[in-house]
Amino acid sequence: MTTITTAALTSCGDGAEKKSEESTNEKVTKVAWGEADGKPVDLYTLTNANGVQIKISTYGGVVTSWVTPDKAGNKSNVVLGFDSLSGYLAKPPYFGAIIGRYGNRIGKGTFKIDTTTYQLATNNGANHLHGGNKGYDKVVWDAKPADSTASLTLTYLSKDGEEGYPGNLNITVVYTLTDENELLIDYTAETDKATVVNLTNHSYFNLTGDVNNTILDHQLQINADKYTPVDAGLIPTGELKDVKGTPFDFLQPHKIGERIAAVEGGYDHNFVLTRTGSDLELVATLSDSVSGRKLEVFTTEPGLQFYSGNFLDGTIKTSDGKSINLRTGLCLETQHFPDSPNKPAFPSTLLKPGEKYHTVTKYKISVN
Ligand code: GLA
Repeated sequence: MTTITTAALTSCGDGAEKKSEESTNEKVTKVAWGEADGKPVDLYTLTNANGVQIKISTYGGVVTSWVTPDKAGNKSNVVLGFDSLSGYLAKPPYFGAIIGRYGNRIGKGTFKIDTTTYQLATNNGANHLHGGNKGYDKVVWDAKPADSTASLTLTYLSKDGEEGYPGNLNITVVYTLTDENELLIDYTAETDKATVVNLTNHSYFNLTGDVNNTILDHQLQINADKYTPVDAGLIPTGELKDVKGTPFDFLQPHKIGERIAAVEGGYDHNFVLTRTGSDLELVATLSDSVSGRKLEVFTTEPGLQFYSGNFLDGTIKTSDGKSINLRTGLCLETQHFPDSPNKPAFPSTLLKPGEKYHTVTKYKISVN
């Protein structure tokens, strides 16, 4: 593997600094991005043949930016993120990060495997959310760029007992940017003790490429004829409810803002995907008519958490000082259903020694 070193001006730490940019192949470059937990953090840039660029931090496996053209060819960043590590160390609400060991909520942070009851961190009221106090979004991942493609492999060993979860879990997440402007995310994991696993990515999309705009005019379509209603703590009641005649019916495209007032608190719900099989399948389409950008979501997962950025309140600012206001980003988190470990009727999230956890999700951006 050859290492090319070029000088590049990149924003690092709290100011712009001259840094050395290394690359192992011309489609993957990296810069040193500071330190967390006493470990060096790097920022990788994946570039495809169209000049589309996705940046990924080894801290949290965060997709920090995805710069892609609109219909006029003007490029801008379509995910919420920061230019420097300090933005992430201030604990934004999971911007762009890999989420685990269990994406979304586990009621009261407790579950049982066989006869053993496990108690996880309760970091969201009485419940456990997105892996606990220090989930995979707040750890430094090991990274290995591919030899010739725009691809980066991240690995992390989540130790037995971390945040209360049983079993040493060896996780690999491979991010690949294709020449079709797709971000492929391939998740695998293996354990040495029975555990629960539900990995996802928490990117907030704003297809306008400008955080001054809300996502309320984006059109969304989701292949889901049912969703999982929740209690006041956002834990599914266990019911799979028909979307028909409700504001959760996105079988045909609807503007997000059209019916949001009728959903208490806004959308933050798991949709039960109507799948034809277990392969990678198109499950949702998001589009913005002004920029012409379209995002298609493909996954092998049974569920999709549509979160309309209801907790964004302007207190967090982008690196160039813009307030990240209510509903200026939305998440389409592919997943197993929230609280599955306590809902035997939901698809299982149990992983046993000798088994391999494997899910794939693909986000594809095009212009119309
Ligand atoms: C997920 C949850 C939301 C919220 C966000 C982060 O989408 O479902 O309730 O916690 O993450 O703010």
